[in-house]
Amino acid sequence: MRKPNVDINVFIERRKQLAQLIPGSALILTAHPEYIRNNDVFHAYRQDSNFYYLTGFEEPESIFVFRPGCEKESILFVRNKDIERETWDGFRYGPEATQKEFKVDAAYSIDKFEEIAPKLLAEVDKLYYRFFYFKEYDSIIEKALLDTKDLKRRSGVGNLTIADSYQLLGEKRIIKDEFEKDQMRKAAEINTFAHTQIMKAIKPGINERELHGIFIQSIMSQGATREAYGGIFASGNNATTLHYVFNDQICKEGELFLIDAGPEYNYYASDVTRTYPVNGKFSDDQKRIYERLLQLQKSVIEQVKPGITMFNLQKFTISSLVDLMLDEGLLKGIKDELIMNMDYLKYYPHGIGHWLGMDVHDSGLTTIGGEPRQLEPGMVVTIEPGLYIPESDKDAPKALRGMGIRIEDNLLITENGNEVITEKIPKEISDLENFLS
Ligand code: GLY
Ligand code: MN
Ligand code: MN
Repeated sequence: MRKPNVDINVFIERRKQLAQLIPGSALILTAHPEYIRNNDVFHAYRQDSNFYYLTGFEEPESIFVFRPGCEKESILFVRNKDIERETWDGFRYGPEATQKEFKVDAAYSIDKFEEIAPKLLAEVDKLYYRFFYFKEYDSIIEKALLDTKDLKRRSGVGNLTIADSYQLLGEKRIIKDEFEKDQMRKAAEINTFAHTQIMKAIKPGINERELHGIFIQSIMSQGATREAYGGIFASGNNATTLHYVFNDQICKEGELFLIDAGPEYNYYASDVTRTYPVNGKFSDDQKRIYERLLQLQKSVIEQVKPGITMFNLQKFTISSLVDLMLDEGLLKGIKDELIMNMDYLKYYPHGIGHWLGMDVHDSGLTTIGGEPRQLEPGMVVTIEPGLYIPESDKDAPKALRGMGIRIEDNLLITENGNEVITEKIPKEISDLENFLS
């Protein structure tokens, strides 16, 4: 474990802002334990986004308690120092150094949580905690709540009111401040470099896995910590599997290649998809369909501004894609009926985009009061129309089978419109063909 690349005051400032929203309440966040990969090897650890967002602390098996207005507001429960384990697995802060380095009001051993937590919770009226997320912590929190109630015996006070911590923080995280916008622009810049490296490397005969390797090398060389999600490196028919994970097939002459990949930079994600021919030159069929999807993506992007909803952008996208499906002989019938019956789902089974931030599918409500949520300045969204025609689809024109196309960019909502922070990654046919040659 090490200190984050980020000034610790960033986390203190976030806690100050959150304190305004939950006076008289406590918030508890948990950092899950490491997860066994095989035998004595663990999966690479990545801190929970909310935990990191408020503390900057990256060690597993930690609990953060925040009680705005109480004498000790911010408290971390962390693993003890353990020289033997540290020899094998690396440095641990331990309570003392955690308090000093992460500038919290107190830090204790995680072993003391059961004893101390009820005293901390006895001072508040309400607890923000997400149940049913890390199951192993639920019983620990339940015990703390029971013991808290016991402390208040005969006072007539009932159980603490519980509210959802992730919804609370989702609403905080959905609007990015200037620091966060810069992190996301940097993630986009790294992604631009890495995507263009793939465009330079692709050729018939290369394995998807080798391209994935070049991508990881490229983002790491520019300061990324890791991929923001498991990258999709899909040639030919593989691109018709939305979350294709194997990335181990040979890219063949004549096929399209779909790459959906992005780095994580200081815990902020980039999420970009490009589709282009393995051999560098679009065939007539590929060109015709790609160009229509590109025009569609660009006209959706033009509409993105405060007040617009993702729901309406999806409606517009479906309407345009059904036109395309009818023109290409993928669907037959009357447009309105095809839309009403959702027949388009066969070739476009996902949404037009999602919130983007620390999580690739970032937190934040998508509806408010039952209505689709309006975009606001400071939000970041993806716009990613696609069309997927599996090889096995005997109803589709033969020439189109095995074609999966998606074009995805990341947009920061501004006062009057949007800033496409991934716009430097080529997507025009002429730019792609130039790059690929
Ligand atoms: N990479 C996952 C997505 O585009 O939503
Ligand atoms: Mn994506
Ligand atoms: Mn996406």
